[in-house]
Amino acid sequence: MFSILVLHGPNLNLLGQREPGIYGSATLEDINGLLEREALGLQVKISILQSNHEGALVDAVHSAWGQHQGILINAGAYTHTSVAIRDALAGVKIPTVEVHLSNIYRREAFRHHSYIAPIAIGQISGFGSDSYLLGLRALVNHLNN
Ligand code: DQA
Repeated sequence: MFSILVLHGPNLNLLGQREPGIYGSATLEDINGLLEREALGLQVKISILQSNHEGALVDAVHSAWGQHQGILINAGAYTHTSVAIRDALAGVKIPTVEVHLSNIYRREAFRHHSYIAPIAIGQISGFGSDSYLLGLRALVNHLNN
């Protein structure tokens, strides 16, 4: 059975109260519950971590080596700034899918660039909490194939 590491980056712990017009009303707990249910259906195991700290996310990616076969990541604002998270993902070479609740290309120009996208299998952006579920499904399909 595949094991997937789900990483949520900074400020995603505030989901539900944070700019609901952009990010929706679902809390992180709600999203994690949906992911657990989806994982059951897909017959994969998931481990979930949220951190507001770049280094903690880098450490989590390193620890995934040999433990998890795929990574689903919403790096939040670090998507647009973090060479370190990108290098960690490239370094462990674990297939990664990048997700965003909002459509980052419809927003401010500084959100249009992702350091992660070039080393990810693919990116899903703009479908609210469904982005995570679609991302998990795409990652598991990729691993199964
Ligand atoms: C986000 C988009 C980022 O630009 C932003 O900094 C976030 C959330 C999203 O899920 O839409 O924190 O990753």
